[in-house]
Amino acid sequence: MKFFVDTADTDAIKELNDLGMVDGVTTNPSLILKSGRDILEVTKEICDMVSGPVSAEVVATEAKEMIAEGMKLAKIAPNIAIKVPLTWDGLTACKAFASEGHMVNVTLCFSPAQALLAAKAGATFISPFIGRLDDIHLDGMDLIADIRQIYDNYDFRTEILAASIRSVNHAIESARIGADVMTAPPSVIKSMANHVLTDKGLDQFLKDWAKTGQKIL
Ligand code: E4P
Repeated sequence: MKFFVDTADTDAIKELNDLGMVDGVTTNPSLILKSGRDILEVTKEICDMVSGPVSAEVVATEAKEMIAEGMKLAKIAPNIAIKVPLTWDGLTACKAFASEGHMVNVTLCFSPAQALLAAKAGATFISPFIGRLDDIHLDGMDLIADIRQIYDNYDFRTEILAASIRSVNHAIESARIGADVMTAPPSVIKSMANHVLTDKGLDQFLKDWAKTGQKIL
């Protein structure tokens, strides 16, 4: 499974990237706001740091303007994936970008029907939002499983990018079902290292080690 980091915080990306944990990055308008940075400047910095796809999202709602925005974002670096919302205009823009050879991430996907349309429009990535479905008491994992089955039935090449991941469980369930990629905040990726028995075991080892009176260095 590929790991994308869902943030525009360049320090957090660098820390994970130095450990080889970053296969790509996703941003969105809310994450750009949180960073407090200029979209073109921060996206360029991320693209220079990471060799994989970096999603940058258009904010227009009509296809023609989305295409103009996407073309400008694509000029930032060759590893830009233009992110468009899953609307009819977004699908129109997706098709135009894909035909020009650009990577496209179709975002805000909440149904298998939407995912099927995105694949037919040539999306590189489809982003089903797990956490936001859970927020309204639906099972985001059912959506990942449905899309996996549909894409496999017809050999669609669009990659399933499990998004809106809020917990380690979301990440692991997505991997178990067979999502190609997950994008998660740095905190979730780091918390994948945690286990209560690891902490307990380490605590015991350190106590016993102290009793030996020895030192390694
Ligand atoms: C994905 O590309 C989105 O940026 C992100 O995963 C949304 O997550 P949220 O629902 O936690 O805001």
